[in-house]
Amino acid sequence: MTGLFITLEGSEGAGKSTNLKYIYDYLVRVGHQVLQTREPGGTPLSESIRELLLSHDYDGMDSDTELLLVFAARAEHLKKVIIPALKAGQTVLCDRFTDATYAYQGAGRGIDEQRIADLETWVQGSLRPDLTVFLDVPVEIGMKRATNRSAPDRFEKEQLSFFDRIRQGYLQQTLKEPDRYRVIDASVDLAAVQVQIKSVLDQLTDNNQH
Ligand code: TMP
Repeated sequence: MTGLFITLEGSEGAGKSTNLKYIYDYLVRVGHQVLQTREPGGTPLSESIRELLLSHDYDGMDSDTELLLVFAARAEHLKKVIIPALKAGQTVLCDRFTDATYAYQGAGRGIDEQRIADLETWVQGSLRPDLTVFLDVPVEIGMKRATNRSAPDRFEKEQLSFFDRIRQGYLQQTLKEPDRYRVIDASVDLAAVQVQIKSVLDQLTDNNQH
């Protein structure tokens, strides 16, 4: 595979949407052909699975069901969209990926990490992102920013403790794979967040020219 696979992760209220656009615009500006997509979602079937996952119709969904739905959506997304784009040399920019599964279903719901790793290997083989940008914000700050939004979905209505476990889960992952992760302090104002992101992207694109 020749294209770059970049993923963006963040806690609630970390400014993921705004910064996704910033990263997309940067990459296009420096000449990448960028395919922007998201998880869960990115294909018609995977978007339908996303609706199931986020809907309050299924409050109390079993955690294993949730995990398997996430990976079902991912299998479809990988085969139909992500892998073909990477093979065609495109840069794939994905809003969340399997790191979110380790954080939400693993740290958040308490599913054993090995189960997630088994599904990861099954569905992805050896495919992993080349770069993962994690927008880190303390839960209290993130939640304050997120409260002004539309009605909370099935995940967003969880307790503070759930989001704290998720943040800690992400931070632990970043320690395990420091080469792949770039942790951005997203508690500061937007301009200061984007200075940090720009520096990560400058490094990435410089590296690619060598
Ligand atoms: P979003 O907030 O980035 O749109 O993502 C939708 C929700 O899906 C978010 O609350 C996190 C959750 N999610 C998981 O629980 N597991 C996953 O593997 C992914 C990709 C997302």
